Amino acid sequence: MTPIEQVLALVRPEILALAPYSSARKESKGGRIWLDANENPETPSAHQPLFNRYPDPQPPVLIEKLAGIYGVAPTHVLVTRGADEGIDLLLRTFCSAGKDAILTTPPTYGMYTVAAGIQNAGVIKVPLILAKNFALNTDAVLAAVTPEVKLVFLCSPNNPTGQLLDRASVLRIVKTLATRAVVVVDEAYVEFASQPSLASEIAANPNLVVLRTLSKAYGFAGARVGATLASPAVIAVLQKVIAPYPIPVPVLQAALTALSPEGIAAARESIRLLTSERQRLLAALPLFPVVQRVWPTDTNYILIQVADSAYVMAAGRAKGVVWRDRSKDVPNTVRITVGTADENNATLEILSRV
Ligand SMILES: Cc1ncc(COP(=O)(O)O)c(C=O)c1O
Repeated sequence: MTPIEQVLALVRPEILALAPYSSARKESKGGRIWLDANENPETPSAHQPLFNRYPDPQPPVLIEKLAGIYGVAPTHVLVTRGADEGIDLLLRTFCSAGKDAILTTPPTYGMYTVAAGIQNAGVIKVPLILAKNFALNTDAVLAAVTPEVKLVFLCSPNNPTGQLLDRASVLRIVKTLATRAVVVVDEAYVEFASQPSLASEIAANPNLVVLRTLSKAYGFAGARVGATLASPAVIAVLQKVIAPYPIPVPVLQAALTALSPEGIAAARESIRLLTSERQRLLAALPLFPVVQRVWPTDTNYILIQVADSAYVMAAGRAKGVVWRDRSKDVPNTVRITVGTADENNATLEILSRV
């Protein structure tokens, strides 16, 4: 079997055999008068051109833009409703309910386990090493991959802890599991990190999938645009599972503005500002008596440890400031998102007095 055939052998057999829904927009391009999709010929109320028509299932103009910013070929890109939809699609594509499993490395992003629960897939957990700033336990991950494990989720930089996973260790996992599991690297926050994305490794590693999103660095969380980057064969299978029209017309229009040269320049400036504010917070936070520990971060948030997280959260809430208590992941921790300078001043002001 070729490496790509070996990856496809991990897909649920029913999905491989599935004849996907063939939408009107997929079946026929061009033409002058569209009477094939039971659409209204116009939008009577809003006079919004195009809102009466179903959108392109995977708009080529958006795929091209995303491929450009992520440095991959357009054939490697699936546009999704946020990275979350990519997680759900991967579970439903690769894990047979009641039989297969995923592997996660807690403390990490909660949606992997939720998506596994929805699909009735098992979850094997191999914790990150707290004593080493939440480093991957690479040998333990590799040892834990049973034949049931179809997906290994690695979040880099990791939420909620904030650090990149070691690139060489991630690649070792990808290569060692080449024929045994798909490795999904969730890079939702990688724009804020000092290291480049692993997307450039997909061409050489068909079992590598990278998740990206416009939610964070592009400030686009409300529009729900993400991308699953993978080898074309994997993208083709995911396309069988995704809903027929995931990207609404207004979202496409807004995304194209966000990814215009001006939009990309604005995102770069936002990243610059947020990373500079992050440095200011990182310098100030350890000086406050309430803060027992500050973890290094490659993201737009900072995890701190305090004596009593509930008390600290209440102090924030009393001043109208909401952080996130992550104590169920790491005892007595609070995750603080980097905001505007004024918002960060509010964080510092409160924590200096707790
Ligand atoms: C690690 C990680 N992955 C994925 C997501 C989901 O992002 P999206 O808004 O693109 O669905 C989040 C959201 O917070 C996240 O923290």
